[in-house]
Amino acid sequence: MNSIALNPFRPGAGQRPLYLAGRSQEQDRFTRTLDQSPVLRNVIITGLRGVGKTVLLDNLKPIAQAKDWLWTGNDLSESASLTEDRISKRLVTDLSLLLGPIVMKYSQTLPFGFTKEMEKKSAPISFDDLWNIYETTPGLTDDKLKAVLSQARIMLERTNINGIVFAYDEAQNLADHAADKEIPLSVLLDVFASLQRSHHKVKFILVLTGLPTLFPRLNEARTYTERMFDVVMLDKLTPEDSMAAIEKPLEMSQSPLTFSKQTVSEIIGMSGGYPYFLQYICKEVFDAWIGRIDEGEEPEVAKVEIISKLDQDFFSPRWDRATDRQQEFMYVISSLDNSDSEFTTQEIVSASKTALEKGFSSSHATQILSALVEKGLIYRNRHGKYSFAVPLMAAFIQRQYRLISSI
Ligand SMILES: Nc1ncnc2c1ncn2[C@@H]1O[C@H](COP(=O)(O)OP(=O)(O)OP(=O)(O)O)[C@@H](O)[C@H]1O
Ligand SMILES: [Mg+2]
Repeated sequence: MNSIALNPFRPGAGQRPLYLAGRSQEQDRFTRTLDQSPVLRNVIITGLRGVGKTVLLDNLKPIAQAKDWLWTGNDLSESASLTEDRISKRLVTDLSLLLGPIVMKYSQTLPFGFTKEMEKKSAPISFDDLWNIYETTPGLTDDKLKAVLSQARIMLERTNINGIVFAYDEAQNLADHAADKEIPLSVLLDVFASLQRSHHKVKFILVLTGLPTLFPRLNEARTYTERMFDVVMLDKLTPEDSMAAIEKPLEMSQSPLTFSKQTVSEIIGMSGGYPYFLQYICKEVFDAWIGRIDEGEEPEVAKVEIISKLDQDFFSPRWDRATDRQQEFMYVISSLDNSDSEFTTQEIVSASKTALEKGFSSSHATQILSALVEKGLIYRNRHGKYSFAVPLMAAFIQRQYRLISSI
């Protein structure tokens, strides 16, 4: 009976955890954002892979709804290039799905035979209605989108709705996968900035989530983004919150299996407090021990096995995106003392002279760095320094090279 107890841990992109540990400050900040009048600041949620951006975004939705805000949005993680036209269609589609159940359109028609009075017909507002506004508005994409959104505001004026939150996950793709000569990111920023400048009862807020490349990209697109956004940088969980992330799901699911203090602290150590790793390791430990619960032993962490499984599942697919020379380059980075935080091109160049037979020149290093940024392995922050986009990447690389040198 015990052996079929459900595993309460959920490693996986966007998998809602049974218990969202920490992040209360971030949720409070978002609540304050909703209380602004007029709206001056929008929100950006950034952080490394697996740090919990998507699930935090999911948790902001009920907060907004409880305050009579509508919520709409989408995941922009598609490989196809995002054009202005597609972004517009998506925004208008999202909007029509949202307004359809709330806003009716009325039309008057003269019945056949002219005998009766005018007939009043009503129908929910549809995509076609909104798209029609888009298409008949003269001007550029942003003029058209502004017209649609302004109209939406008017439609909602007489309801109790305070506004609409537009939430877009993986928003760095707006810049990264933009088609040639298209500037969907700038369009989006211009539209929201302009609508927010005109005071109105019904407000709009933009919430963008993505890798840390997102904010620098926004700044490149429009310098005013600095004033337009509050940036919430998600980091690893504190030891207390990590502990809660491990213990609460066991408690909440009334798990027959519990972890000792020793096991909990080992898991925290191995995970570095990063949510994805916490979920992953806990799931592994749970699966390994639930079948043996009748033996009455305390679960232990099979460190070596779990790490090698994690390497295969999480790190290797990312590592394999790099060429041999790029991997060598990242090996040099992983040997730096500051490999887990920020590093400069110069630091890599000088470390490469001692670590490798043939070091990297400055221009070659810059070139490789931008290729790695392109592949999503590294990101460049606003001050021109670099970091790994994946947490605990340096330790993984060191493990790989230790393995090679021990063969
Ligand atoms: N605060 C938290 N407490 C407990 N678990 C969490 C927390 N935040 C995230 N997780 C777990 O971590 C994993 C990764 O979360 P999520 O997909 O939201 O990360 P992300 O930052 O969006 O990652 P990516 O950059 O890959 O999109 C999920 O399994 C999720 O359940
Ligand atoms: Mg995500």
